[in-house]
Amino acid sequence: MVEEQVKTGRRSLKEMLPTTDLTDRLERSTGMDRPIRALAKAIRKTIKPGKLRDLLHGVPTGKPAHPPLATFSLGCWMATAILDVTRSDPRAARTVLATGIVAAAPTAAAGITDWSALHIEQQRVGFVHAIANMSALAFYTGSLLLRLTGREAGGRALGFAGLGAAGLGGYLGGHLAYRQAAGANHAESVTHLVPLGWHNLCDLKDLPHGRPVTRRLGYIDLLVLRSGDGVTVLADGCSHLAGPLHQGRLISEDGVACVVCPWHGSTFRLADGAVVHGPATAPQPSFETRVRRDGIIQVRPAHRIQ
Ligand code: FES
Repeated sequence: MVEEQVKTGRRSLKEMLPTTDLTDRLERSTGMDRPIRALAKAIRKTIKPGKLRDLLHGVPTGKPAHPPLATFSLGCWMATAILDVTRSDPRAARTVLATGIVAAAPTAAAGITDWSALHIEQQRVGFVHAIANMSALAFYTGSLLLRLTGREAGGRALGFAGLGAAGLGGYLGGHLAYRQAAGANHAESVTHLVPLGWHNLCDLKDLPHGRPVTRRLGYIDLLVLRSGDGVTVLADGCSHLAGPLHQGRLISEDGVACVVCPWHGSTFRLADGAVVHGPATAPQPSFETRVRRDGIIQVRPAHRIQ
């Protein structure tokens, strides 16, 4: 197929779209790594672990907060552009534009909080995504100021410049979310990879007491923790970005036993995998366990119709 394309000189659609190549190169470019790392560190230091950080990640709703907030701002930018093209209602255009500018603050706060806990390849793309969106915000703020001082034509021109910058930001945001899977649930496939019913996992006597270890069940790795005669089992790959939970710390949060991911500190309740602290927003798949008379531990996914 490839040889045929070379012979005929035909190029695939992907080859004809240079933007795909550019974003791939952006992921690999190391030129901005120093400021990126410094900024990410400063953000993590400023927005400390706790309620505010969890809120900005979207932990209370179980979904990242940034995408719906960004959609709201983009909707305002689009509505402004439509009102500007039709020139039907300058006052409505000003109102929608001002709403988008106000909404940009929580959108940016949620975005930078998520960004500060990503892989460096994702942060490189996210950095340019943020610059594009900040440029859009600057254009739109200038646009609103011009409109409020009666310079409608200049305001509309700056508005269209803002739309261009926001379009670039949106494109890179799509790359981050869908190509690089930032914000996606990285443990979603786990329960689909385990057939229905109970499965033999390992022998109870081979497990250390009070220290999480990993055991393989078919295609997936599990965190297994023995405490007394009981056993707790969660998917091992963290739902945030697939970090190895069995290497994490065990803590007690308000008297509840939890495991902390070693990569970005997501904290999950051991009993059922619920998210206690982000950046993860999706719960960690958990497993029911039972111990056979001969000491073999059996597991099956919890919260699934058997
Ligand atoms: S991989 Fe990021 S917190 Fe676990």
